[in-house]
Amino acid sequence: MSDLEIREVPESGLGHVLDLADLVFHHRTDDDDRERTLWLPRRGERIGAYDGDVLAGQLVALPMRLAVPGALLGCSAITMVGVLPTHRRRGVLTAMIERMHADAVAAGRPVAALWASQAQIYGRYGFGQADRALTVEVDTSRPMAFKVEPDPRPLRLVERDRAPEVLGPIHERMLRRRPGGLVRDPEWWDKAILPRVDEHDEGATEPRIVVMDGEPGGYAVYRTKGDDAGAVVRLDELTADTAEVEAALWRFLASIDLTGRIQAGSRPVDDLLPLLAADPDQVELKGDRGALWVRLIDLPAALEARGWAAGDSLVIEVSDTRLPANDGRWRLTTGAAPRCERTGDDPDLTVGVAELGAVYLGGLDVRRLVRAGQVTEHTPGAAQRLHAALEVPLAPHTDDNF
Ligand SMILES: CC(C)(COP(=O)(O)OP(=O)(O)OC[C@H]1O[C@@H](n2cnc3c(N)ncnc32)[C@H](O)[C@@H]1OP(=O)(O)O)[C@@H](O)C(=O)NCCC(=O)NCCS
Repeated sequence: MSDLEIREVPESGLGHVLDLADLVFHHRTDDDDRERTLWLPRRGERIGAYDGDVLAGQLVALPMRLAVPGALLGCSAITMVGVLPTHRRRGVLTAMIERMHADAVAAGRPVAALWASQAQIYGRYGFGQADRALTVEVDTSRPMAFKVEPDPRPLRLVERDRAPEVLGPIHERMLRRRPGGLVRDPEWWDKAILPRVDEHDEGATEPRIVVMDGEPGGYAVYRTKGDDAGAVVRLDELTADTAEVEAALWRFLASIDLTGRIQAGSRPVDDLLPLLAADPDQVELKGDRGALWVRLIDLPAALEARGWAAGDSLVIEVSDTRLPANDGRWRLTTGAAPRCERTGDDPDLTVGVAELGAVYLGGLDVRRLVRAGQVTEHTPGAAQRLHAALEVPLAPHTDDNF
């Protein structure tokens, strides 16, 4: 690594960023698509590892805000990570992560987050897998009935360029209820959530948006694909304030003419649909995969900013070899006015910073980590107490795939 230099990739190097991403992720970005793709590295902090003039490694950190229980926190959203195949296993990624950590500290962002294409890589850097996503399919070849009365108010289709104005307030209400999502600006809606062409599924239509206005309200974003005989509704996102609005949106999706199936690739682990469907056999669970990884950059700031479900006082011993400012013993006082302060007291629990990241959004039960030998409980009952404080009403979920 000593022969490589870590420095910012200038705006003039954006083309190289796309080339490197294409190379390591085995993509081909056509000329038409390049302009469409440049927006992402353009809005991020671009960390490059240069071998002379050659961009040998890159990491893009997007300054975003992440919904955590009870708060929206500054977050470095990491994407487009890659190292040339000729420069692997020489510590290039490690050096870029160190720069990203330092930048996030300097910018005052208490957390970082990413989607991992290789799950075995990021634990060593202090990231823990904080939420999961279910793949669900619904057989809509026959009518769908619900155990609640779907909200009878009308639904309407909305043009994609009106999404920030119409969907934005509903999405923001959801962020206050459910951790895991990112605060979206108009560019994020336009390019990350509602691109006209889905680069991973070019056969699908443009995004369609159906909304129930008002409060309570809700919306669904979907695409369709296939031919007249057997088209599928591919659901990208469905957000509703109440079960009744949720049922109305599912009923709409299930009754689109010339379609016989809904495929939803990313639903929360506590999705209501299996409970709402009068015939649960119509809803099939097809998969369960890891989603967002969270890294606590400024541990006391992240723990004090989070809302807590119970008041308590616990000493947590944290090991963090990469960010020593987080390493050591902390007295965590949860409740209405949370505090996280250094202490010399004996620990109730010993936990790695990656495991703390994994439980931070409330998705993973810390008691399971104790049973799995990944968190050590010194004081009997301490894991149960931390679990009670971390608990969230709705499981974390992330529809922002970056
Ligand atoms: C993953 C990738 C970025 C790693 O870059 P790198 O510069 O080779 O990583 P480093 O040399 O800094 O290695 C850091 C550590 O991770 C380990 N590691 C790296 N890639 C790994 C992999 N694919 N599987 C298992 N371990 C891996 C290294 O062995 C090393 O371990 P150590 O610290 O215990 O010695 C690079 O291989 C790559 O570009 N892969 C293809 C694109 C990709 O997967 N990007 C990640 C998207 S989320």
